Amino acid sequence: MDDRKEIKYNLFSLFSNLIEFNDIKRYNQLMIMLMETMNMNRFFSDMIKNIEPYVPGEQPKDKKYIKLNTNESPYPPSPEVIEAIREAANADLRLYPDPDCEGLKIAAAEYYGLKKEQIFVGNGSDEILAFCFGAFYSGKKVLFPDVSYSFYPVYANLFNVDYEEVPVSDSFEIDAADYLKENDGIIMPNPNAPTSIFLNIEEIEKIIKKNQDSLVIIDEAYIDFGGISAVKYIEKYPNLLVIHTMSKSRSLAGLRVGFALGNKTLIDGLERMKNSFNSYTIDRLAQAGAIAALKDTLYFEETRNKVILTRDNTVAELIQLGFKVLDSKSNFIFISHKSFKAADLFQKLKENGILVRYFNKPRIDNYLRVSIGTDEEMGYFIDTLKGILC
Ligand SMILES: Cc1ncc(COP(=O)(O)O)c(C=O)c1O
Repeated sequence: MDDRKEIKYNLFSLFSNLIEFNDIKRYNQLMIMLMETMNMNRFFSDMIKNIEPYVPGEQPKDKKYIKLNTNESPYPPSPEVIEAIREAANADLRLYPDPDCEGLKIAAAEYYGLKKEQIFVGNGSDEILAFCFGAFYSGKKVLFPDVSYSFYPVYANLFNVDYEEVPVSDSFEIDAADYLKENDGIIMPNPNAPTSIFLNIEEIEKIIKKNQDSLVIIDEAYIDFGGISAVKYIEKYPNLLVIHTMSKSRSLAGLRVGFALGNKTLIDGLERMKNSFNSYTIDRLAQAGAIAALKDTLYFEETRNKVILTRDNTVAELIQLGFKVLDSKSNFIFISHKSFKAADLFQKLKENGILVRYFNKPRIDNYLRVSIGTDEEMGYFIDTLKGILC
């Protein structure tokens, strides 16, 4: 290998390793250093130079893995969804989609028992979360748990939000009493990610009630897998916004549809934000597919229940193998083994064709986040672990 080729190869291996072990901080630092060396970033604004982008879970193209790393559903979407998308794939695609997503809002209002004015539709809930930081938290002080969804600090930095990460307990529980300190806003997932733990709905109400001058955002991406939603508090508390997604329990991660549910003024704030960015975030196919998904409650319940059952069986097996498994109300579990390092298990599982998620971050660097697949996939996962542990 000549020198240039060798340098290229070494850099490629280094970046691959950093991504594989989710060492995002070092990845970003190295990338910036490299670009500075090559003077490639001279066109970047200070904002883009200084942010640390979120790095999503791997979507591998090299070979076929059992994908237990991004909390997707192992089941296809409802056949009604496919049919609706097929029907919508017609000559009308030449026209812009409805910027107000009227039909989808009506279907969501019906499903949630809300008015359509209480619903905002976004291109996945990530987009809605970003809009929330921009629309409500920019220039203000926000609290969120220290072990939580890693996109929150990214959005906070992007929109100039001052934030404090409130430590979860040693057993990764959120304590409502920790959210009584001064703040302009609070955001947390419930169930929390990546811990999978559901915080009792009465504790959530305490947080909303004790912070009525702050906007409290409850990110319920995983609520359908055994938790109780805070949607029922929307009429009572105008300072509450609940975020949902069709990516997990509706098997539609690829369609990119999420909802914000809350009082009309908050929804208007999000519409102002969206219409200052891109009026057409939800395309015609996505609107048609999402309406069909919301209407097919039977299919939704069937597939969601299957995931819950597989999760509970998997947890029982893992405990037998000596794993500590946090109490999950999500479509994923957060696990740690007393004798085997999470980073090693991650690597061994990958060598055996199974992708899980490893976060090389303080407090959670000996845990693996494992999405729940089909019974067959989880059977293979358990058998593979047995082989590794013996
Ligand atoms: C806590 C949490 N919120 C939001 C999202 C974003 O979901 P989506 O943008 O697919 O709706 C995720 C995705 O994994 C998540 O874990």
